[in-house]
Amino acid sequence: MAAAGSAASGSREGARIEPPPRCLLVIFGASGDLTRRLLIPDLFGLYRERLLPEGFAVLGVSRTAYSDDAFRGLLKDAALEQGRETFDEAQWNPFAARLFYHPADLEDPACYPGLNDRIRSVCAGQGIPGNIVFYAAVAPRHYASLVGRIGKADLADPSTDLPGFRRLIIEKPFGRDLASARALNRDVLTAFRDEQVFRIDHFLGKETVQNLFVFRFGNGIFEPLWNRNYIDHVQITVAETIGVEGRGDFYEEAGAVRDMIQNHLLQLLALVAMEPPNSLDGDDVRGEKLKLLRSIVRVDPSLAGEVCIRGQYSEGEIEGKKVSAYRAEKNVSPGSFTETYAAFRFSIDNWRWAGVPFYLRTGKRMARKVSEIAIQFRPAPSMLFKDTACGQMESNLLVINIQPEEGIYLRFGAKDPGPAVCVRPVDFHFTYREAFGARSTPAYGRLLLDVMHGDPTLFPREEDVEASWALLDPFLRRWGESPSRDLVFYPAGTWGPPEADALMEGGRDRWRRP
Ligand code: BG6
Repeated sequence: MAAAGSAASGSREGARIEPPPRCLLVIFGASGDLTRRLLIPDLFGLYRERLLPEGFAVLGVSRTAYSDDAFRGLLKDAALEQGRETFDEAQWNPFAARLFYHPADLEDPACYPGLNDRIRSVCAGQGIPGNIVFYAAVAPRHYASLVGRIGKADLADPSTDLPGFRRLIIEKPFGRDLASARALNRDVLTAFRDEQVFRIDHFLGKETVQNLFVFRFGNGIFEPLWNRNYIDHVQITVAETIGVEGRGDFYEEAGAVRDMIQNHLLQLLALVAMEPPNSLDGDDVRGEKLKLLRSIVRVDPSLAGEVCIRGQYSEGEIEGKKVSAYRAEKNVSPGSFTETYAAFRFSIDNWRWAGVPFYLRTGKRMARKVSEIAIQFRPAPSMLFKDTACGQMESNLLVINIQPEEGIYLRFGAKDPGPAVCVRPVDFHFTYREAFGARSTPAYGRLLLDVMHGDPTLFPREEDVEASWALLDPFLRRWGESPSRDLVFYPAGTWGPPEADALMEGGRDRWRRP
């Protein structure tokens, strides 16, 4: 598996893997946020680490009429914004010389011959004999027509003058529900073969997420405990302090369930709960993940309200600053019922996990930015300490911190020094920063490299996508019929609506306040 591959080849002196073959990355929707904020900065990082091939170029395509230079200027400004102190002009300039731009209205079939010519001329100029990765970073509603047009323009297959591979990256959300995901898949497969398609979920490119696999299966001591006999429940939290950041139009159509739960959080759940695969081969790993996703219990639509709460932020305060309500954000309807928070209780119907609740929640404008997986172990049976000065003992807790303080800690009881017997919770702590320094490949960079290498291991397959939509469909139908259902409000800067406590089984468990 690629995840383990890079860990294995990493060394303290700086991990190096073979650069992928020469190729051109064509980004559709290149004037958007994703290109500026994530794709280009991550590619620049790969360039600095010498992980890109000699012959590599980016061709940005979108409607805005930029020249190559204007496009480069825009991307440079974005790179400067992200880190003026660390920005190195001497490295940026040769990298920027590989960035090109082609203005085109992708909805207009007449633009494709011109695009085809431009692709050929960039490849010829950059010494790229063939090999093209297309990145669909346009609004999801344009995926099907874009892919169809790429196919009709004969761009999806190699040609004699431009041989090599053709690959397609599609951003999430892949579809809006099960039916539309299936329809989109059919459309995509009219132009591309399945092995050419990479459905990207950038959480799977995060080091800490890949480490879940290594942590579980590369250590002997955790796996024996990783089941219903020892684990009481699991909480997966992805909390953000940011709002919708000017993406109101996208978010109004998506909401937290489609934007985060269907993909990032369910993928995390699959990695935490899946069985060990037979090998690190992409098919084996993805096969086990799929098996797990399919064993999550589908909720009867009439009970959907008992296992899920949706919320929307009203005005509040984040880090001492007043922030406005979601409904007052740009491009958001003042009467919107779109959720910016969602919490679910799932159960998994298999031998390992029967009876263990998995709580998932995500939200914008929450009290703190934190993504973590908390494994709450069952309490020790011993009543030995119940009459001691410190009263109730805490159960063991293992927290896998995905971001921002990347690391893992294990909470256990220790004797508080002194004459009395008193147990206090203390933590074993591992942080990436202390153990490995700041070295890490950013998520998009990592996944782009995998696509160039043709390694699909970290990319959800169509079956994963469908299994996740199948789980959420009853909820989506319920809210489609009645948009305000299960929706409550929470002030920005809090941990979400208190109503989410009702999801906790038997009032026993508590949402964490990490
Ligand atoms: C994206 C969502 O997929 O993930 C955003 O569309 C969200 O709404 C982002 O903010 C969170 O990613 P990260 O890597 O910043 O945690």
